[in-house]
Amino acid sequence: MKPTTRIGLAAALLAAVGGVIAFLSSGRPNRAAVVSQRWESAAQCQQCHQDVFDEWHGSHHQISFSNPEVRALSDDFRKEECMDCHLPRPVAVTGFGKRTLPRRTHFDEGVSCITCHLGPDGGILARNSRPEVPCKPQANEQFLAVDACAACHNQHFTTDQWRASHYAKQGTDCAACHMPAVERHRADGSVRLGRRHVFEGAHDPAMLRRAGRFEVTRDDRELVLTLTNVGAGHNFPTEERHRAVDMMYRFVPADGSKPGDWQRAYRFRQPYLDELEPVNPGNARSENTQLPAGAAKTVRVPIPADAMAVEARLWYRLTPFCGDDDPRSTLLEERRLELR
Ligand code: HEC
Ligand code: HEC
Ligand code: HEC
Ligand code: HEC
Ligand code: HEC
Repeated sequence: MKPTTRIGLAAALLAAVGGVIAFLSSGRPNRAAVVSQRWESAAQCQQCHQDVFDEWHGSHHQISFSNPEVRALSDDFRKEECMDCHLPRPVAVTGFGKRTLPRRTHFDEGVSCITCHLGPDGGILARNSRPEVPCKPQANEQFLAVDACAACHNQHFTTDQWRASHYAKQGTDCAACHMPAVERHRADGSVRLGRRHVFEGAHDPAMLRRAGRFEVTRDDRELVLTLTNVGAGHNFPTEERHRAVDMMYRFVPADGSKPGDWQRAYRFRQPYLDELEPVNPGNARSENTQLPAGAAKTVRVPIPADAMAVEARLWYRLTPFCGDDDPRSTLLEERRLELR
């Protein structure tokens, strides 16, 4: 068969199917059309869930296959195993708790509506079963559970860290922090509660600032710097071995001369296994120095006799190899303490 004939046939077939759908839909606009619906793209959901779509579009879930950082590290996905989670098939289809398998379609949709919401029988998984609604959502416990996120989010142990925390015991799950409640406006003007789909995390300064409480005090001749993980439901920083949080300080001399160089009091980070240097002097090689949920770390530094004040900063870095001026560094906190 010549390609042109094949295309012609396909077009005729599509037109026929379209006609059948149009016929079925007449009189019952939404439902019949959707009964014959095969859910395969976020663009389908967009027709009725524009608000959710807008939140997801541009999020790190949506860009997971196009993200330049991922492209660079995966050698443009020549490392095929990177596609498992960055261009995944639906979680429930592979099986909850299992690592997802890669797909070969919809490259611009990364981790999409379909990835999280499509059930093994082709239906849509949700909190409530609602047969009267066009997309016929079906209630599913596993879809709502942390296991649904764990399929991809335990590669660097975020889910295990959460399970070991008081948040797991009190039932504060991933969605409680990463999918806050939002108002959704129905076409008839009424309002219902939904869940935000941006999934703010390491790229959101407000989210990062919620994670830690930074205290700068003095104890006689010592400067005392303390970071407490008060807001992250897992280690801070979590995930990617790349991430780092730095407590920095510098003393301001009493004679009016310029402050000394910034010194690092402590770095919180999970190093790569093949790194030779420990994260901080005094740590074991490849020791994980991330701060678990609820935990605190205090560092004491002797105050020089000529110091008038101290300045202290808390930095978040998307990679440990970038300096203060790099856009991948975020200044979370800045303090000045007078010492005389
Ligand atoms: C033809 C319109 C239409 C399409 C297409 C559609 N939905 Fe829906 N969906 C609705 C309506 C209407 C509701 C009910 C919203 C309300 O309560 O006001 C709903 C509700 C939902 C709910 C919430 C169920 C609950 O727990 O209460 C989920 C989840 C959902 N849709 C997911 C999806 C996904 C994912 C897609 C794409 C694969 C999709 N929908 C496509 C119309 C649609
Ligand atoms: C088991 C699932 C999984 C696999 C396989 C996987 N990733 Fe990821 N990746 C994630 C998750 C989840 C995140 C988001 C959390 C985080 O930042 O660590 C992520 C984030 C990233 C980021 C950070 C993106 C940014 O903008 O900061 C990069 C880069 C990355 N992955 C590269 C890779 C590369 C390269 C591979 C293959 C060698 C790979 N990933 C394989 C799950 C996976
Ligand atoms: C099919 C795999 C997969 C599933 C399931 C999944 N994620 Fe992700 N998630 C990713 C990947 C991949 C990234 C990073 C993409 C990138 O940065 O390029 C990511 C990024 C994130 C981020 C970080 C965004 C940022 O800007 O740093 C958060 C937060 C997040 N996911 C939370 C969740 C939660 C909560 C769930 C469960 C409701 C979930 N994810 C389910 C794969 C997944
Ligand atoms: C990373 C997984 C994930 C992705 C991607 C995702 N969802 Fe959801 N979605 C959830 C979870 C979890 C809930 C929470 C259910 C609850 O608590 O009610 C939810 C809830 C919803 C709801 C009901 C609450 C509300 O805000 O109205 C709708 C509708 C919905 N999703 C549609 C979509 C659409 C459309 C897309 C794609 C544009 C999408 N979802 C992408 C995981 C996801
Ligand atoms: C108590 C609130 C809370 C809970 C519960 C929580 N998180 Fe977070 N999460 C945060 C905060 C705050 C940050 C920013 C600080 C950081 O990166 O550690 C964050 C960051 C992240 C990031 C970005 C990491 C990166 O480097 O890109 C991912 C991914 C993530 N969380 C996934 C999860 C998953 C999966 C769960 C459930 C197993 C979860 N979170 C539970 C508050 C929470």
